[in-house]
Amino acid sequence: MAGSDPLFDAARGAFDHAIADYSHFKVGAALETADGRIITGCNIENASYGLTMCAERVAMFKALSDGHRDFRRALIVADTAEPTPPCGACRQILWEFGGDLEVILANLTGITSRRRLSDLLPDAFDRRFLP
Ligand code: THU
Repeated sequence: MAGSDPLFDAARGAFDHAIADYSHFKVGAALETADGRIITGCNIENASYGLTMCAERVAMFKALSDGHRDFRRALIVADTAEPTPPCGACRQILWEFGGDLEVILANLTGITSRRRLSDLLPDAFDRRFLP
């Protein structure tokens, strides 16, 4: 399966850039925009642990700061046998800016699971609830 989807290859490449000196848990992410571009991210840890940023949010913030606003897929790679789903904070950020994305989970070998963000984050809080 590896190499069959450019989104996997991009996230796998970002995985190698992860800075995970404390947890040693490396994550790579890639977002696909509506016009087919790919933006990557990796987790970046800090000695002040709470400042660590997940791969998914790095990818989304990079994409937004480059002017991308429409997304269709996210792919997340970790070195785990079981798929590693995005954390709660990342689900909220992906929902805010990506809506009901296809979320593809993978390990170093290839894609292991395909989900919708609305399944990972049911009853999401978003701007619809704000007055
Ligand atoms: N991590 C991510 O990059 N994405 C997730 O959705 C889950 C967790 C990172 C944060 C931290 O650097 C390491 O994985 C262990 O929690």
